[in-house]
Amino acid sequence: MSEEKRVRIGFVGCGSFSTGNLYPMIHLIPEIDLVAVCDLKEELVKRNARNFGARRWYTDLDKMFSEEELDGAIVVGLPKMHCEVGKRCLDKGLPIYVEKPSAISYKGALELAEYAEEKGLFGTVGFMKRHSTCYRMAKSITEKKEFGKVNEIEVRFANGRYPDLKSWGLTEGPANAFLIGQAVHIFDLIRFFCGEVEEIYARLNEVEKINSSGIFGYAITVSFKNGAVGIMNLNALQGPGFQMSEYFLAAGSECWLEVKDMVSLNYYAHTKPMPEFNPEGRAQVFSWKPEFTEFLASKAEGMMGYKGELQNFARKILGKEELGANLFDGAKALQIAEAIWESSQSEKPVKIG
Ligand SMILES: NC(=O)c1ccc[n+]([C@@H]2O[C@H](COP(=O)([O-])OP(=O)(O)OC[C@H]3O[C@@H](n4cnc5c(N)ncnc54)[C@H](O)[C@@H]3O)[C@@H](O)[C@H]2O)c1
Repeated sequence: MSEEKRVRIGFVGCGSFSTGNLYPMIHLIPEIDLVAVCDLKEELVKRNARNFGARRWYTDLDKMFSEEELDGAIVVGLPKMHCEVGKRCLDKGLPIYVEKPSAISYKGALELAEYAEEKGLFGTVGFMKRHSTCYRMAKSITEKKEFGKVNEIEVRFANGRYPDLKSWGLTEGPANAFLIGQAVHIFDLIRFFCGEVEEIYARLNEVEKINSSGIFGYAITVSFKNGAVGIMNLNALQGPGFQMSEYFLAAGSECWLEVKDMVSLNYYAHTKPMPEFNPEGRAQVFSWKPEFTEFLASKAEGMMGYKGELQNFARKILGKEELGANLFDGAKALQIAEAIWESSQSEKPVKIG
C-alpha cells in the first residue's frame, strides 16, 4: 500500500490491555501509520513509543494535537476516559476508536455517539468479536440464502469471579458490573446476528451479594424485533481465576451453526453436497478450526479480532465500510445490559426502545 493511503494515528492510553493486545497489532495493519502515542505517565508512553515504533510521544493531549497532523485517534482506558478524551479528539475533527464499553451507561454512550454525529464525524467501538475469524465466518454463513434468517440463538458466556468495578464509577456491585464491563461484548454479538432487541427477561442468582467481587449467574430470554428469539446463560461462576468459555449457536431454517470459544465452528447445513459420497443423504457438517501452528500464532494474526477492529477503524477513515461497531452500537449494547439489570431486579420482562 502506498504511503499516502495510510492514516496518521495518535494512540491515547498506554495501559495494560492496550499494550498487551492492541499495540502489537499495529505493525500488522498496512493502513495505519502510528505517528504519536500519548499517556499521562511518561514511563509508559516512552516504553510504547520505543516498543511499537511511534515517531513521537506526549504526556499532554493538547500538545499532541498542536504538534501533529492526525487523521484519527485510538483511545483506550477506562470508560470515563473514552468519553472525555474521545470528545476532545472529536473537537479537533478526529474520528475516534474507543475500547468497550464506550461509557458506563446507555445515556453516556449515546451522548458520545450524538456528539460525534453533530460534528459530522464517526467513532467505532472495540467489539472485537465481530472481527474474529470464526464469527466472521459464521456471519457470512448466516447471510447465505440457504441458511435463511437467524431464527434462534443460544449463548453461553462464563468467566470466574468478577469485580465491582468501583474504579469505573459503578455502584451496583459485581453482578451489575459484569453486564457493563464484560457481557457487553455478548450484547453486541447478538445484535450483530439478529438486529435490534425487543424484550429481555432475566433472572439472577447472586451467590455472593455484597463484596468487591462476586460470583453469580444470569438466565436470560431475549426476543428481537425481527421475530428471532434466544436464550443467554451468562455467569461468573467458573472460577477460580479468570477462565472464560464461550458458546454461540444460531439456528436458521432447518440448519444451524455453532461457534465454540471463538476458535472453532461447525455448520450443520441442510443442503447435502457431494451426493456421490453420501447416497443415503445423511446430515453433513462443515467444521473449521485453525490449523495448530496458526492457532499458536493466533494472537499475532488477529484470530481474536483485535487486528480486525483496528484495521476496520483505519479503513473507515479511508472511506471503506466494514463490519465494525459504531458508537451507536456501543450505546445499544449498554441499553441491553441495563434492561437485563432492570429485569433481574424487578423480576419482570423489560421492553427496549
Ligand atoms: N476487548 C477486550 O477483550 C478487553 C479486555 C480487557 C479490557 N478491555 C477494556 O480495556 C480498557 C482498559 O484498557 P487498559 O487496561 O489499557 O487501561 P489502563 O487503565 O491500564 O490504562 C489507561 C491509560 O490511559 C492513561 N490516561 C488516562 N487519561 C489520560 C489522558 N487524559 N491523556 C492521556 N492518557 C491518559 C492512563 O495514564 C493509563 O496509563 C477498559 O475499557 C476495558 O473494558 C477490553
